[in-house]
Amino acid sequence: MATVNVVYLSKKGNTEKVAKAIAAVCGVEAIDVSEPHAIGETDLLFIGMGVYAGKPDQALLNYLDNLPVNTIKGAALFSTSASGKDRTELIVNLLEHKGITVYPKHLSLKGKFLFLNGDRPNNSDLRMAENFASEVLESFQG
Ligand SMILES: Cc1cc2nc3c(=O)[nH]c(=O)nc-3n(C[C@H](O)[C@H](O)[C@H](O)COP(=O)(O)O)c2cc1C
Repeated sequence: MATVNVVYLSKKGNTEKVAKAIAAVCGVEAIDVSEPHAIGETDLLFIGMGVYAGKPDQALLNYLDNLPVNTIKGAALFSTSASGKDRTELIVNLLEHKGITVYPKHLSLKGKFLFLNGDRPNNSDLRMAENFASEVLESFQG
């Protein structure tokens, strides 16, 4: 059975909600990378990010750059942003450079920002997150 972990960096709590929905499907606790923690051996890592000025936060990139990656075989990316657009490119590049295969589909959801997207991620977004988690798990475990 593959070991799965879910990590996220969420400044405003939107990505955290999605991370918790994904973690629940995986039967683990979502890990906030900005808090002290120990991450055990991981086969499959879900990584969640908010989008800030078009990119992931630098602290998340640093965290991923410093991860002991020897056991990580695959990663799956999810994000929330005002636009709902995929802005995971820097993370994809970083992981692929480390030889980690990134699941080709990324989950890009809308998240509340100022006067925009007041209720997002909403229940329907969280259902999409659960489906995404199931799909990735199924594909990873074959
Ligand atoms: C400082 C800052 C910069 C942001 N820049 C962008 C941006 O460039 N594009 C976008 O679509 N959303 C942007 N947003 C909106 C966030 O991506 C959105 O609120 C997201 O859900 C935040 O995730 P979080 O709640 O997990 O921190 C920005 C939000 C903040 C606070």
